[in-house]
Amino acid sequence: MKHYTNIKDISNLTDTIKEAILLKMNPYEFSDLGQHKTLVMLFFNASLRTRLSTEKAAKNLGMNVMILNVNDAWNLEFEDGTIMNANTSEHIKEAAQVISQYADVIAVRAFPSLTDKLKDESELVMNSFMTHATVPIINMESATAHPLQALADAITISELTEKAKPKVVLSWAPHPKALPQAVANSFVEMMQSMAIDLTITHPEGYELSEAITKNTPVIYDQNEALKDADFVYVKNWSSYKDYGKVLNQDENWMMTKAKLGHAKFMHCLPVRRNVVVEDAVLDSEQSVVIQQANNRTFAAQIVLKQILEEL
Ligand code: CP
Repeated sequence: MKHYTNIKDISNLTDTIKEAILLKMNPYEFSDLGQHKTLVMLFFNASLRTRLSTEKAAKNLGMNVMILNVNDAWNLEFEDGTIMNANTSEHIKEAAQVISQYADVIAVRAFPSLTDKLKDESELVMNSFMTHATVPIINMESATAHPLQALADAITISELTEKAKPKVVLSWAPHPKALPQAVANSFVEMMQSMAIDLTITHPEGYELSEAITKNTPVIYDQNEALKDADFVYVKNWSSYKDYGKVLNQDENWMMTKAKLGHAKFMHCLPVRRNVVVEDAVLDSEQSVVIQQANNRTFAAQIVLKQILEEL
């Protein structure tokens, strides 16, 4: 693997999931692979799971890890040809090349603006690092994608499914803030790459990009969509059509134990209790959110392993 910015960077998903599950059983098996190699993690936004699980994964492989909260450094300029006489002090062209001298792999988290659809869809930050850095880049959640989360989700479903082709439902849920579509986008693309019967449900106005959903069924009636589900993945996202807007806060879309039926409950976390999902779900045996978060380590570790093997 050269970079991991999108789930399409995984050449063999089935083997990658199997190998991640093996790593989970023996996490220090390749603890020499990353010796004298450094992972630099750059955070433009907050994180709990991604930050700790990716650091843990790198250390399991013997790597050194350096973390920079980018807001503590110089304000970066990403546009070409800008006269930098305002708020930005350093251009990505220099910054990415400099960081590449300190790193063997760079991981970046940079959320969308949710105000400028074209700019967000251009993945300016992630693509600027891809262009100007001289080492592999890992996406720790960008404007439109969260491929490490999607790989952890795929590992979790593979471990827990009792069926060859489980029914998985991605259900929108209410949230007071405008959130990105990145988790939903990568989850949909990941499920489309697996032997999964995927259905998406959300209120009208919350359609994801058709470039992502393709032929996946979208059912606006949540109860209808949830029928016979084996896994229910709940996530809020802001409107893609009316870009970045919160159009609906209908609490009837919150996931409840009654609606969940016998399905397992998934969420990427962090989650707002009794807004997105009721306590009775999160506190039940049906919730697998803690296992999902644990699998973030092994998703990151298999990605780092595949990158290190090609350095
Ligand atoms: N799921 C996830 O990416 O969590 P963090 O935002 O805490 O990293």
